[in-house]
Amino acid sequence: MTVAVDSLDSAALDRDLADTRFSGRVQMFSSIPSTNAYAMRQAEAGAADGSVYVADEQTAGRGRGAHAWSSPAGSGLYVSILLRPQIPPAEILWLSLAAGLAVQTAIQRTAGVQPDLRWPNDLLLNGKKVCGILTELNAEVTRVRHAVVGIGINVRQQEFPEELRALATSLLLETGRAVDRQALLVALLQSLDREVAALTESADRTAVAQSIRARLEANSSWVRGKEVRVDENGGFTGTTAGLDSRGFLLVNTAAGMRAVFSGGVREN
Ligand code: BTN
Repeated sequence: MTVAVDSLDSAALDRDLADTRFSGRVQMFSSIPSTNAYAMRQAEAGAADGSVYVADEQTAGRGRGAHAWSSPAGSGLYVSILLRPQIPPAEILWLSLAAGLAVQTAIQRTAGVQPDLRWPNDLLLNGKKVCGILTELNAEVTRVRHAVVGIGINVRQQEFPEELRALATSLLLETGRAVDRQALLVALLQSLDREVAALTESADRTAVAQSIRARLEANSSWVRGKEVRVDENGGFTGTTAGLDSRGFLLVNTAAGMRAVFSGGVREN
């Protein structure tokens, strides 16, 4: 299939983001090692809350754990959002979970399909990964200095490297539609702006966390009733049983209820 090139237009982006904290704060790169690494460095150097870094290509894209994130030019949306939220470090998980919901909404709006959410925040279409989120944090025990939410969405890939073929997919492969990356970025940042506002500006963060938990339960097949194996603490298996009050996934195992801390949740 021939796919027309889409491009990112800074002026149009600022116009579309006018009502958000991201307006005038988006910086674009044709190629960069990693938007997350860059955003973390910019944060150290004093960059503003709401700064956004987008790249057409990453040459050293970072995934969760020790994984790399395949980031070829012209194919994916690679974006990092720098935030300075006035919330305790222990509550950053809610921000990361809310980012997953924001991506889900943006994909639904622009591609017309609803990906599943696998805790903490992988997005899957037909069981394959279409988006990953890496949230990195610089914090004291009681105070977040800055957080960087890094989002990689496979948009227009027509194929993947051999080692990813069974695990990864793109919006193009699943829908046949070459979604415009700029439209997807706008939808994502508009949706994320609302999530961040709710979490950071509400007087009742417990209620906001409860809303995130309820929306995850409603929009993810993984949060409750899924037989899973978890690759942590030697590995264990069980049935997912919702999220605890901090946002960690609960799994009912033969030895009792356990919370999952680090991810690595797979269908059993
Ligand atoms: C995962 O392993 O699931 C998380 C992948 C996160 C990839 C994104 S792409 C934009 C940002 N920059 C990076 O280097 N990583 C994140």
